[in-house]
Amino acid sequence: MIWIYRNTTEGFEDLALAEMISAGLTQASNRFFYGESFDLEKSAYARFSIREVSRGSSPEEVITNFSENIPSPYRLEKIHKNKRCGSTSYAFLAEKIHGGEIRASHPKSIILVFSPDNVLWIAGFVREKTDSIVEKFGQITERTCVSLKPHAALALINISGSSPVIDPCCGTGLLPLAAKLLDRESYASDNNVNMLRMAKTNRDVLGVDLDIHNKDAFTPWLHDCCLVSDFPADRSWCTSAQDLSLAIFTKWIPFIKTFCVIFPDQIVEKLPSTIVINKKIKFTAGRTIVVGEVIRS
Ligand SMILES: C[S@@+](CC[C@H](N)C(=O)[O-])C[C@H]1O[C@@H](n2cnc3c(N)ncnc32)[C@H](O)[C@@H]1O
Repeated sequence: MIWIYRNTTEGFEDLALAEMISAGLTQASNRFFYGESFDLEKSAYARFSIREVSRGSSPEEVITNFSENIPSPYRLEKIHKNKRCGSTSYAFLAEKIHGGEIRASHPKSIILVFSPDNVLWIAGFVREKTDSIVEKFGQITERTCVSLKPHAALALINISGSSPVIDPCCGTGLLPLAAKLLDRESYASDNNVNMLRMAKTNRDVLGVDLDIHNKDAFTPWLHDCCLVSDFPADRSWCTSAQDLSLAIFTKWIPFIKTFCVIFPDQIVEKLPSTIVINKKIKFTAGRTIVVGEVIRS
C-alpha cells in the first residue's frame, strides 16, 4: 500500500483532487490518498509518498511495531491537520524504543506518523519527489499571460486518459508537451506564428520530439483522438453572438473519441447532447474543465 501526501497550489485544489482520483487513488483525508501503486514522478501535485511500515490504534503502537531498520540519524515527524511538524514526544518515544539518533536536520530518512481518519495510525518512510517531470517542465522559457501553469497542463493530461492527444490551439505548447513528457502520443497546432515560434522554443528546451503545425482549429485534421485544449477566449467583448470555444469544440466532435477541455463557465450548460460528460472540474478565471466522450450512433 502506498500513501501519498498531496500538496496543492492555491486555486488548483479541484484539479489536484481530480488528478489523484484519476490516478486510481482513494482519498483518506483532505490531503492523504492511498492506493496499490502510484507513479509519483508523473503526478503534477503529489510531492511526498509514504511507504507504509506499520499501523495501529495509537502513535505508540505504530512506533513500537515499526519493524524495519531505521537508518540513523533520522527525523520523526507527525502529520497534524494538513501540516507536517516535528513531535518531541513521539521522537523521545521512538528513541526509547528503537535507539538511534533523531535529528532535526539532514536526516537519512524521515519517518512520518499520522492518522488519516483520527482513529487508524500509520507510520512509514517518506520519500520526497526530486527531479520530477513537473520540475523539468518548469524550465520552459516561452510563456504568455494566457499560458497554462506547467502543473495544470500535466494534471489535465493525466486526467484526460486516452491517446493520441491533440491540441489544435496549442499556444506555447504546454498541453502537447506535457503529453509527450508523460509518454503519450500527441499532436499540436495553432494559427498564430508567434505562438508557434514560442511552442517550438519550449519544445527544444525540453528536448521533446513533437511536430507543431500551422493550422486553423476550425478545420479538424486528426481522427479518433482525445481533444485536450485550452480554447481561445472570445475577444469580442461587445457581443455574445458566438463563443469561440464552443464553435471550435463543435467542429471537432465528429472527429474525436474523448475530450478534456477548458470552457468558460457559462458555456458548460450549452454543450451539445451528442457528448457524455464524465467530470466537471472547477478551474481558474471562471472556467471549468470538462472531461468526457463522444456518443457514436
Ligand atoms: C488560451 S490560448 C492557449 C494557451 C496554451 N494552452 C498555452 O499554455 O500557451 C489559445 C490559443 O488559440 C490560438 N487560436 C485562436 N484562434 C485559433 C484558430 N482559429 N486556429 C488555431 N489556433 C487558434 C491562439 O493563437 C492561442 O495560442
